[in-house]
Amino acid sequence: MGFKVAVVGATGNVGREMLNILAERRFPVSEVVALASARSMGTEISFGDKVLKCRHLDTYDFADTDICLMSAGGGPSKEWSPRIAAKGCVVIDNSSAWRYDSDVPLIVPEVNADAIAGFRKRNIIANPNCSTAQLVVALKPLHDRAVIKRVVVSTYQSVSGAGKEAMDELFHQTRAVFVSDPVETKRFTKRIAFNVIPHIDVFMEDGYTKEEWKMMAETKKILDPKIKLTATCVRVPVFISHSESVNVEFEKPISPDEARDLLRESPGVLVIDKREDGGYITPHEAAGEDATYVSRIREDATVENGLAFWCVSDNLRKGAALNAVQIAEALVNRKLIAPKQKAA
Ligand SMILES: NC(=O)c1ccc[n+]([C@@H]2O[C@H](COP(=O)([O-])OP(=O)(O)OC[C@H]3O[C@@H](n4cnc5c(N)ncnc54)[C@H](OP(=O)(O)O)[C@@H]3O)[C@@H](O)[C@H]2O)c1
Repeated sequence: MGFKVAVVGATGNVGREMLNILAERRFPVSEVVALASARSMGTEISFGDKVLKCRHLDTYDFADTDICLMSAGGGPSKEWSPRIAAKGCVVIDNSSAWRYDSDVPLIVPEVNADAIAGFRKRNIIANPNCSTAQLVVALKPLHDRAVIKRVVVSTYQSVSGAGKEAMDELFHQTRAVFVSDPVETKRFTKRIAFNVIPHIDVFMEDGYTKEEWKMMAETKKILDPKIKLTATCVRVPVFISHSESVNVEFEKPISPDEARDLLRESPGVLVIDKREDGGYITPHEAAGEDATYVSRIREDATVENGLAFWCVSDNLRKGAALNAVQIAEALVNRKLIAPKQKAA
């Protein structure tokens, strides 16, 4: 049994990683189609040991495609995801365009896989923001044990979260600083090389940024609407992997040892937590890995029932491509979809 899968945004950071992960995890495909804008027509892209020629989204007919991994940004998602879904192709959408629609499930399989069944209303399933995905994977087992009241999170987000052009910008600026060339700023509002920027996505009326609002709204939708969350999202000059400093206040007592044991047993989480030099994870080590890493688990004695920890994950994998492929796997494993074209 194989599914015809289309990856839209196949030339992008996330799209390329989707193709890698589909091949690595041997997702049951009959065919994989790489799609992007007219700019990329004919571009060669790897899928396992094969090479795919990129096709143009606008002229592709989804009628016989089973699953579309949509990763081309909010604009194309708003326009295309419903059109693709109307062709009977299930869309797993990586943008923020559909995440807050009550008829679209927002899924992190380790956390709320059962909600996936609600996809039939629109034939669209949303993938969360990268910073939310890793956070809820770490919070879920703690919430189940001790009930989270409030979360305070500060992020240290890599430039790959802003797309391939943002990675180029960090590279070129870093080089320019070393050779004393003028530093050009295009994608970011300030220089990112040897700097940090406390601003991701647009400003909202209340002073928070949209990225911070997304973490709050998505944690509520995926984990529990009663959880209060405040975030400060910061871009840092790291290529891949987002890090988060997290403080959590619980209703019931939970010790750092209990939290460590629970997290060790939880799907998708790896605990690296030795109280010694280097006994924690950094973004460099998490890049290319699937796990959400948790380190520095300790009591936050400034509140009743408080814990603090450090959480790192590859934003292109668990924060985007891996989560999308895990959603596709859940659809298949739960027999929620069947291939349109039966094997001959
Ligand atoms: N990066 C992350 O950590 C992360 C995490 C979660 C979600 N996301 C979301 O994933 C999406 C893609 O992010 P990315 O980092 O992969 O961006 P990216 O590296 O800039 O790549 C964008 C991709 O979209 C394609 N594209 C753009 N406009 C298009 C159009 N009108 N029609 C067809 N294809 C079009 C581009 O094709 P061309 O090469 O032809 O221009 C390229 O393949 C965004 O919605 C982003 O918010 C990203």
